[in-house]
This record gives sequence, structure tokens and C-alpha cells, in this order.
Amino acid sequence: MTRVVVSAFSVSLDGFAAGPAQGPDHPLGLGGLDLHQWFFSQKNFPPMRGATDAAHQVDAEHAAKALDGSGAFIMGRHMFGPQRGPWTDDGWKGWWGPNPPWHAPTFILTHHPRDPIRLEGGTTFHFVTGGIHDALDQARNAAGRRNVQIAGGVATIRQYLLADLIDDLQLSFSPILLGQGEPLLPGIDLKARGFTLTDRAIGAHALHVTLRRRPPQESVAA
Ligand SMILES: NC(=O)c1ccc[n+]([C@@H]2O[C@H](COP(=O)([O-])OP(=O)(O)OC[C@H]3O[C@@H](n4cnc5c(N)ncnc54)[C@H](OP(=O)(O)O)[C@@H]3O)[C@@H](O)[C@H]2O)c1
Repeated sequence: MTRVVVSAFSVSLDGFAAGPAQGPDHPLGLGGLDLHQWFFSQKNFPPMRGATDAAHQVDAEHAAKALDGSGAFIMGRHMFGPQRGPWTDDGWKGWWGPNPPWHAPTFILTHHPRDPIRLEGGTTFHFVTGGIHDALDQARNAAGRRNVQIAGGVATIRQYLLADLIDDLQLSFSPILLGQGEPLLPGIDLKARGFTLTDRAIGAHALHVTLRRRPPQESVAA
């Protein structure tokens, strides 16, 4: 059965998932790239003290599995690119080049209509102006029996959490402080919404946790 998942979403110790001042030179905001030390890392950043080969392997496995099982993706327009306001004819096709890593239909939430963009490797970007439910309906249809992954960014994941539409939330907490930027969880009571911790693993550069949402009746009965 299709599940709606968030996978390998990096969060700082102080709760930010993007730094401030996103722009062409800083897709993740100032300092935001450090959130992904665990993902890219291995050689470029010092591991946490005591990190073992097994811990490095934990990070590598989480990175390798990040897109597994997903047959469609949803993302916000800020994750797709640095433009704001109505689209201009600037030829922008996302940050990821001619063969993006999604390899599946990818639905981009925006208030500004735009024709789909078909790229190599199975990725087609569809621009959805009908809101989160419309995007999810389209993504479910496209995914078939596979999962729908809410890829980001922060405002997009928050909307799906607040609508109780995410089943599995896999977060990777990086041991950095951003101080400011886009905070992921303020005002969202994950416990009250039925999330429980189902998995945790210590990597060399992050703590990876998986939270699964149970339907309300299950939460009450438990
Ligand atoms: N930490 C991680 O692992 C991770 C992963 C992915 C992305 N990110 C980062 O997250 C940041 C982006 O997050 P963000 O919170 O700034 O923005 P976002 O969620 O990517 O996009 C927000 C924008 O999407 C459009 N949008 C969102 N919901 C909509 C709706 N219901 N209806 C219509 N349009 C809607 C709006 O754009 P318009 O009104 O302009 O159309 C809105 O301003 C980037 O820095 C990205 O690199 C981090």
C-alpha cells in the first residue's frame, strides 16, 4: 500500500532544516549545506568523537536508501529553485541538472502555473497550483503501489504534517547549530498526532530517527 513518507530530511540541533537567506549561491540558506554533512560527508567533515566504521556505514546506508521505494515526489517551489513570484523564461529546470535524482514524476507546489518539464531518467516536474491535497492525489496516481515522498522543503513538510497526511517521518539530526532559518517543528505536536519512534541509529555525522504515525484509534487503544 502506498505510504506518504519523508526520508533523510536533515535537521539541525536547534531545529532548522534550512538556513536563512536562501538564494542562488545558497540553496539551503546560509550554513544549510552543513545539515547534509552525514549525507555527503564521509571525508570532508570530522566525524563525531567515538565514531566507528559501523557508524559511518549507518550514514552511508541512510543516504543510499533515501529515495528507495518512492514512485512520486512532492516538493515546494523554494526547494525547486531560487526564483520567487511569477515564472520568467529563464530556462530553469531545477538544481539537479539534466538527469535529476528523482527518476519519477515530481509535483511542485506553487501559486504560479507553469508547463511540465520532462528531463532524462524518468523525472518530470509538474507544477501544481491546487494545493497540498491536489498534489497528493496526483502523486498517488503517479506512484501506483509505491510510496509518495514529500521531499521538502520545510513549509511543504509542515503543511502535510499539520494535515495528518504523513505516515513515516525519517529525520536526520545533524550536530550543528544554525541559529536561524526555517524551523521544522514549532507548533506541531508529533506525539498528539500519533507519531511514535520506530527506529533510531547513530551515524558518524547524524542521529537518524524514524517516526511512524498511527491512526487515532490505534493510538487510543495502545
Ligand atoms: N534539510 C533538508 O533535508 C532539506 C531537504 C529539502 C529541502 N531543504 C531546503 O528547504 C528550503 C525550502 O524550504 P521552504 O520552507 O523555504 O520552502 P518550500 O516548502 O520548498 O516552498 C515553499 C513555496 O512553495 C509554494 N507552496 C508551498 N505550499 C503551497 C501551497 N499549498 N499552494 C501553493 N504553493 C505552495 C510557495 O511558492 P510560490 O507562492 O512562490 O509559488 C511557497 O512559498 C530550501 O533551502 C531547501 O534546500 C532542506
